[in-house]
Amino acid sequence: MIRTDRLLLRRWTDADRPPFAAMNADPRVMEHLQGLMSPEASGAFVDRIERHWDEHGWGLWAVEVPDVVPFVGYVGLWPADYVADGMVEVGWRLASGQWGKGYATEAAREALRFGFDEVGFDEIVSFTVPQNVRSRRVMERIGLVRDAPGDFDHPRVDPVAYPHLVPHVFYRLPRAVWIARRESRAFPE
Ligand SMILES: CC(C)(COP(=O)(O)OP(=O)(O)OC[C@H]1O[C@@H](n2cnc3c(N)ncnc32)[C@H](O)[C@@H]1OP(=O)(O)O)[C@@H](O)C(=O)NCCC(=O)NCCS
Repeated sequence: MIRTDRLLLRRWTDADRPPFAAMNADPRVMEHLQGLMSPEASGAFVDRIERHWDEHGWGLWAVEVPDVVPFVGYVGLWPADYVADGMVEVGWRLASGQWGKGYATEAAREALRFGFDEVGFDEIVSFTVPQNVRSRRVMERIGLVRDAPGDFDHPRVDPVAYPHLVPHVFYRLPRAVWIARRESRAFPE
């Protein structure tokens, strides 16, 4: 469990399941993903997230705004082995009523710190469809850098049903760059 200025990043509870299912059935939230999720699929996703925490000690946090909203969505780290072996992605999905408050950025900065400092990853990446401008802005705000030669066609997107969701833009942040930035901020000239 981790506190940031405004947020609590924590493991999931059963109370998170209904609001998460509602988010996953919201066309605004799912606009750049492959269709709406059923409550069953949403619940199975929570099971996978919790299993991943148990097995690996890192993953997607349930995000709470203490004394304000018990669950606003998820932010955290997730394996992207289907893109490249050992690749780790920072990702986010918030309820649409909670956009525009900086919650994703605040939690994602902590996800980078946790991934680099506590888990020890050498690199954290992120990717999305070019038209997902909100998500790309989060990537840029937290310091990920676009790697255009790394852009790719997502292997898990159905090209017949969702051709517009196949091409992905790729962003990355090596640990060394993150550490150098942190040090230059801590010891300005
Ligand atoms: C991607 C997603 C998490 C981004 O949400 P968001 O609210 O735009 O991002 P943040 O939480 O970082 O908030 C940033 C916005 O809050 C504003 N803001 C308000 N108060 C703020 C504060 N205290 N601190 C920082 N930003 C603040 C910023 O100005 C910014 O607005 P802008 O982008 O219009 O300039 C959200 O759109 C989402 O869940 N989308 C659906 C799921 C999805 O597509 N996930 C990614 C798949 S790859």
